[in-house]
This record gives sequence, structure tokens and C-alpha cells, in this order.
Amino acid sequence: MTDKSVPVIAIDGPSGSGKGTICQLLAAKLGFHYLDSGALYRLLGLAAKRHGVELDKVESLAVLAAHMDISFRMNEDGDSPKVLLEGEDVSSSIRSEQVGSDASIVAAYPEVREALLQRQRAFAVAPGLVADGRDMGTVIFPGADAKIFLTASPEERAQRRYKQLIDKGESVSLAALVDQVQKRDERDMSRPVSPLVPADNAVILDSSQMSIDEVLNSSLEIVIKNGIRPQH
Ligand code: C5P
Repeated sequence: MTDKSVPVIAIDGPSGSGKGTICQLLAAKLGFHYLDSGALYRLLGLAAKRHGVELDKVESLAVLAAHMDISFRMNEDGDSPKVLLEGEDVSSSIRSEQVGSDASIVAAYPEVREALLQRQRAFAVAPGLVADGRDMGTVIFPGADAKIFLTASPEERAQRRYKQLIDKGESVSLAALVDQVQKRDERDMSRPVSPLVPADNAVILDSSQMSIDEVLNSSLEIVIKNGIRPQH
């Protein structure tokens, strides 16, 4: 079980909704820890490739999920935390479209999700946690103090991803990205275990027409309304 005295903010939603950015800004503003649960599934996808585990070998994947050597290192300059697999910095390799797609395949197995459950709950330590994912408010932290479901239209999310990839110098087609975003959503929303759905008591925010500052301010309002106070 999780420690009830540690405040937890659960932020769920599809990829490209801006969750990652908002969760990190919110965690920094509140002085809380940050859990990027999607990175765990991405790390598992990458670890499986590196250890030669096929993506349909559920038992081996669950063992790997429970034991893989991973760590997150906070950056002092406020950038995203560094993600390490077996001591190697894989922060950028886990962000590829291929690893994202592998992550969504391994994430559909109940055995894998079960193996990662306690590893995720272990992030809830004082002074508090902002948890970013698909099932933070429904499964991992059902008793979270504040729950937000952040979404945006598929076109807007594909457009944001397109911009990120172009900025990184990668050549991609926008139409292909819209298609990928929709396929990944379908897989995440229709899987029988921990599907991507808002928790009953989540506040739904559609960021399609909102700036980052607007989403951050709305999220802070929700958090404060739920009795959570910044640490500094
Ligand atoms: O959030 P991110 O795009 O990094 O997540 C990668 C994939 O991991 C998602 O498409 C989803 O299938 C899976 N995931 C999940 N549950 C979470 C976080 C991510 O199933 N809590």
C-alpha cells in the first residue's frame, strides 16, 4: 500500500497531451518528486530488445520488468530527469517512435503491469509525488489526493510530436504521425487491463486550445482546491 500521509497528484492522459511537461513543471513548483511511468514501459521495451527477449514472451518480460536495473537522475538545470538502464544514459533512445510502440505492446500484458506496480508505488515518498501516466488515478494511486485527465485532439497531439521531431532534425510525415497517434490510443484505450480511461473523480482538461501556462495554472488550481500545499 501507499503511505497515506504523502500527497499524490495523478495525471493521466494520452501521449502528446502535454502531460510530461505539465507534470515536471508542477513537480518543480510544488517541490515534489516526479514519476514518469511511461518511461518504465519504454525501458522495458528497450531492455527486452537488448536482452533478446521477444515481445510475446510474457513471462520473461515480467521477470525483466521486476528486475531491470533502472534509475532516474534529477537534473539540476531543471531539464527532464536522466533515465538510466544498467547505468547507461538512455534518455534519448527511449523516446524513439519504435520504443514508444514497443512500450505500448509490453504494457498490454497484465503480468508486466503487475510486476511494475510496486516499483511505481515506491516513488510516493515525502514531500509528495506528481505521477504521470495512463492508470495513475485508476490503478496505481486510486487514493490520490488530486486526479487530472489531460487530453487534446489526435491532430493537435500529432502536430506537437511533428514539431518536436522536426526540431530534432528528423524527417517525418504528419499524416503518418496522426495515424500512429490514433493506433497507439486505440491500443491503450481498448486493452482489457488498465485501459486509458479517466478515473471517476478526475478533472478532465482539454489542452488543444491552451498554452502550457494556462494548463499549468488550471492544474495548480485543481491541486490547491484539493488541499495540497507547495513545499516552498
Ligand atoms: O507516456 P509514454 O508515451 O512515454 O508511454 C509509452 C507507452 O507506455 C504508452 O503508449 C502506454 O502504452 C504505456 N503506458 C501505460 N501505462 C502508463 C504509462 C505508459 O500503459 N502508466
